[in-house]
Amino acid sequence: MMRLGVNIDHVATVRQARGVDYPDPVAAAAIVEMAGADGIVVHLREDRRHIHDRDLAILRKTVKSKLNLEMAANDEIIDIALETVPDMVTIVPERREELTTEGGLDVETYYDKLAVLTERMHAKEIFVSMFIDPEPKAIELSRKMGSDAIELHTGRYCDASTPAEREKELERIRAGVEEGLKWGLQVNAGHGLNYFNVKPIAMIPGVEELNIGHSIIARAIFVGLDRAVRDMRALIDEALRG
Ligand code: PXP
Repeated sequence: MMRLGVNIDHVATVRQARGVDYPDPVAAAAIVEMAGADGIVVHLREDRRHIHDRDLAILRKTVKSKLNLEMAANDEIIDIALETVPDMVTIVPERREELTTEGGLDVETYYDKLAVLTERMHAKEIFVSMFIDPEPKAIELSRKMGSDAIELHTGRYCDASTPAEREKELERIRAGVEEGLKWGLQVNAGHGLNYFNVKPIAMIPGVEELNIGHSIIARAIFVGLDRAVRDMRALIDEALRG
């Protein structure tokens, strides 16, 4: 079965829009888990625009499934991760001015830094994933630096403006999955997935986990969080049945 990790950052975005203490991502995590998600994903950004240190600390104690911390290779955040010990970290690039994570990691330029980071996480038995574009070189380097998993960036597929472009991006992701499996990596995928574009990705054999955030939280405003998670789970299951 393909696992579903739900990113709850945007519950915190709504809270931060008013600088109050609700809605609480900790409460959201419990509902998401009861709705059948396989993991909770949060991104502790350097600018703390949504998830805060307090959220991560409490989630570490309350999440029963799996806590996946998305983080940049930033010294302050690395220290927090080593102290918190999530089940898994997904290393992402981060620029202050971006709206969301716009591209995969540049594993070639930051190879040494990422290799050291991976080793430090492994010393705490934290599972490590690199968020990369579906490029053979990035996949190979992720393996070489000791990463356990890769998460293939599906943003270009989601943003494709024509069916031909979409098919081309889908093909790149399929090839990336093959390549990752060949190197013995766990292969996950995510970014920009929603109720209308998830199925073709969910049908790719070998993808172990999908990480989805914005579309689920957006739907939750209308139908509730429990139903939003279950709807996504149902679509993934439908795709798997073919
Ligand atoms: N995977 C990674 C590595 C991400 O950085 C994000 C965004 O935080 C997601 C998945 C989820 O993306 P979206 O919110 O577009 O579903």
